[in-house]
Amino acid sequence: MALSDSQLKFFADFIEAKLGIIYVKDNYYQLIKRLEDIATQMNFSNVEELWQKAQPGIFGQMRMLLLDLATNNETSFFRDPSIFKFIDEKILGSAEFSGDNPPPLRIWTCATSTGQEVYSLAMLLNVWQRLNPKRSFTYLATDFSERVLDQAKAGRYSQLEVQRGLPATMLVRHFHNESKGEASGSHSPGWMVNEELKKNITFKQQNLVEDFSALKPFDLVLCRNVLIYQNVENKIKIIQKIADKIVPNGFLVMGAAESLTGLSDAFELRQFERGAMYQKKPGK
Ligand SMILES: C[S@@+](CC[C@H](N)C(=O)[O-])C[C@H]1O[C@@H](n2cnc3c(N)ncnc32)[C@H](O)[C@@H]1O
Repeated sequence: MALSDSQLKFFADFIEAKLGIIYVKDNYYQLIKRLEDIATQMNFSNVEELWQKAQPGIFGQMRMLLLDLATNNETSFFRDPSIFKFIDEKILGSAEFSGDNPPPLRIWTCATSTGQEVYSLAMLLNVWQRLNPKRSFTYLATDFSERVLDQAKAGRYSQLEVQRGLPATMLVRHFHNESKGEASGSHSPGWMVNEELKKNITFKQQNLVEDFSALKPFDLVLCRNVLIYQNVENKIKIIQKIADKIVPNGFLVMGAAESLTGLSDAFELRQFERGAMYQKKPGK
């Protein structure tokens, strides 16, 4: 049995309230597909039963599945390579980040998905560190979804995933073939990130719509391809909260197709060949 638009809106409103992710009516077809998946996973006979069970309130497994399946987790190693080139050439070489005894650089990827983004940074900065041994880095990698964070923490990737954007030299240096002991369940053997690369990365669940004022300030924040799903009001609030967590002259990297225009005046736009990067204004 199909759900009416007002029944679908009930689920869409819940997702927007908890995650800020908006389902406009034109995208209800995606929502229906996801609700069908949840009904199957919860052993309900159809989406109508799911709707009925949700009426007293959405909790527990239903809440987890609904919010988890509402997110788009698309990512890949070195996604939008020109951004990584810019971080390498312009940010790490900038006056703000140099000095004789620099403290560890604090980096946050705030919608890290299955981890390719933070591991790409760690691989890039590892090259930098070998040339500048005094330089060290710590990473916080967060996402709302526990499911994607589990993969990120495990650092396990399929052949297909490592073929998307990961240079062979980096694969050889930072990954090993999954051993029998590491493999579990029925999946085919994959590639595991070496512990050496993981050691400075902390993975943690964080919903950007919720409070994160307890986090210590960062020198560099990557907030890529997550705010596109938020309404303008939420985008403004989240960017302000992120700005409050970046040191003066620190950097914010958005997705290649994203911009802060009309959302924040806390940053100076720094343009480069194929994208943009934002530097926090002192005093903001
Ligand atoms: C499209 S992926 C982007 C991954 C990576 N940043 C990149 O650009 O390749 C978006 C990620 O944002 C996460 N996300 C969506 N809404 C969120 C929220 N309110 N708080 C934290 N993470 C959220 C999703 O779980 C998903 O993993």
